[in-house]
Amino acid sequence: MARGLLSGKVAVVTGAASGIGAAVVERFLAEDARVIAVDLADQVPGPGVCTVTGDVADPATWRRVADLARTEYGRLDVLHSNASVVVRAPAHELSEHDWDRQIAVNLKATYLAIHDCVGLLREARGAVVLSSSVHALAGLPGHPAYAAAKGGLVALGRQLAVEYGPHVRVNTVLPGPILTSVWDDISESDRLRSAAATAAGRLGRPDEAAAAVTFLASDESSYITGACLVVDGGWTAVKDSA
Ligand SMILES: NC(=O)c1ccc[n+]([C@@H]2O[C@H](COP(=O)([O-])OP(=O)(O)OC[C@H]3O[C@@H](n4cnc5c(N)ncnc54)[C@H](O)[C@@H]3O)[C@@H](O)[C@H]2O)c1
Repeated sequence: MARGLLSGKVAVVTGAASGIGAAVVERFLAEDARVIAVDLADQVPGPGVCTVTGDVADPATWRRVADLARTEYGRLDVLHSNASVVVRAPAHELSEHDWDRQIAVNLKATYLAIHDCVGLLREARGAVVLSSSVHALAGLPGHPAYAAAKGGLVALGRQLAVEYGPHVRVNTVLPGPILTSVWDDISESDRLRSAAATAAGRLGRPDEAAAAVTFLASDESSYITGACLVVDGGWTAVKDSA
């Protein structure tokens, strides 16, 4: 595997404590980036990693992140906005609080991040990678706020690419079924059903999503901006009825 794709770069990764975010941190470090890892959960700092414990929906978190990037590293090259929360319920059973929280964490947080970090990203001619979902493309029961936020991120990613080009590239990944803790409360039979609904015939691994994020964060994708990359093993390509 190629190494050094992010040599000399400083990257912020949110939702870094578990799942895809943790796999992205691991891969970014392997590619020689230095990482500011942001999560609600406490994390252990390590070589090349500064940690920030905070809520991505809180503007104060982003002031801390931007200050840290400026004072610790003097630059910011990559922003991976990945933290997310999901509350499963049909719209008529979803509380207003749970609607607002999902929109705040899954959508508004990216606006807050850009608001405080885009100056640094422009200086570095940086790259932003947003984490949307296949929920932006297909309706699945029980995800009204999550899907609305993820659809909003696709539009926001395009908007930011136009707004901040040519200095900053902005792209969006749309993961499909990737086996992380969000699958913990999903039964084995439902997992098998989801796996069978992909062309790949299996659920994805966090490192496979991280590979797509790394590509979009690196100069390997230097002429790609305002784009969406679906990472779903062909889940959105499959339709098994006429
Ligand atoms: N796993 C999948 O099947 C799948 C499918 C489609 C999209 N995605 C998207 O991929 C991204 C990563 O998903 P995952 O499966 O790794 O999730 P995960 O639940 O394993 O990890 C999410 C992380 O975000 C953190 N987090 C939650 N709310 C936060 C907040 N307010 N502030 C800071 N951190 C917060 C959590 O503590 C956790 O560490 C998300 O954007 C998710 O919507 C995942």
